[in-house]
Amino acid sequence: MGALKVAKQAFITGASRGIGQAIVKRLQAEGLEVIAPSREELDLSSLAAVRCYLDAHSGLKPDILINNAGENIINPIQKITMNDWERMFTINLSSAFLLLQTFAPRMAEKGWGRIINVSSCYGLVSRAGRAAYSASKAGLLGLTRTVAIEFGPHNVLVNAICPGFVETDLTRKNNTEDQLKVLCEQTALKRLASPAEIAEFVGFLASDQNTFITGQSLTIDGGFTIQ
Ligand SMILES: NC(=O)c1ccc[n+]([C@@H]2O[C@H](COP(=O)([O-])OP(=O)(O)OC[C@H]3O[C@@H](n4cnc5c(N)ncnc54)[C@H](OP(=O)(O)O)[C@@H]3O)[C@@H](O)[C@H]2O)c1
Repeated sequence: MGALKVAKQAFITGASRGIGQAIVKRLQAEGLEVIAPSREELDLSSLAAVRCYLDAHSGLKPDILINNAGENIINPIQKITMNDWERMFTINLSSAFLLLQTFAPRMAEKGWGRIINVSSCYGLVSRAGRAAYSASKAGLLGLTRTVAIEFGPHNVLVNAICPGFVETDLTRKNNTEDQLKVLCEQTALKRLASPAEIAEFVGFLASDQNTFITGQSLTIDGGFTIQ
């Protein structure tokens, strides 16, 4: 009789809707166990709350971490308050760092791990009003590279994805219908992505099938950034 195969466990933030929700569906379809705390359980805008959550769940040893939650407060440089700047860095970068700092060593102990940081095409290029978003998402790309180097010897593969425009609440909140038309026009495939298309890619990166991609900023944008 062969050894019983234990399902891998994934931990994901921001899974109440949008891309995160689609990722959960994709991972569960593969038979993975998914831990997806709500904002009420794990508020990423407070580092104290993140530390408190991690202390209260000190036995957690996920095989896969997906830092997906993100926020985008749009303002021109002159109007960005320090509060908003810090909030965006806390949610988009520092909380992801704390989760990763806690879970990556536990993956290393097991000799297998996959971390996917959800950045953005605006971590690579930018647009007016996106300074805090772009800077925090670009920071996530730098963090991804360093963690990939430090944990590579332990078979923990760490990647960031840079989605273009995806049909979610975030995209609708931050763009008018006319702006969306222009963005689709500027995208080679002439349309938005569905959350399921992003989830498919994350599912691959989180799996055993990804054996040699690490430290990368992988663009999935329908050809938005090529022109
Ligand atoms: N949509 C796009 O076109 C696009 C493109 C590039 C990158 N991205 C990135 O992809 C990720 C997911 O985006 P999405 O479009 O799916 O966003 P979304 O529909 O707005 O969903 C955001 C998710 O993050 C959670 N979240 C936000 N702030 C949080 C906080 N302080 N604490 C805990 N959870 C929090 C939300 O929880 P609640 O439901 O409680 O609010 C929700 O589950 C983000 O990092 C975003 O920057 C999106």
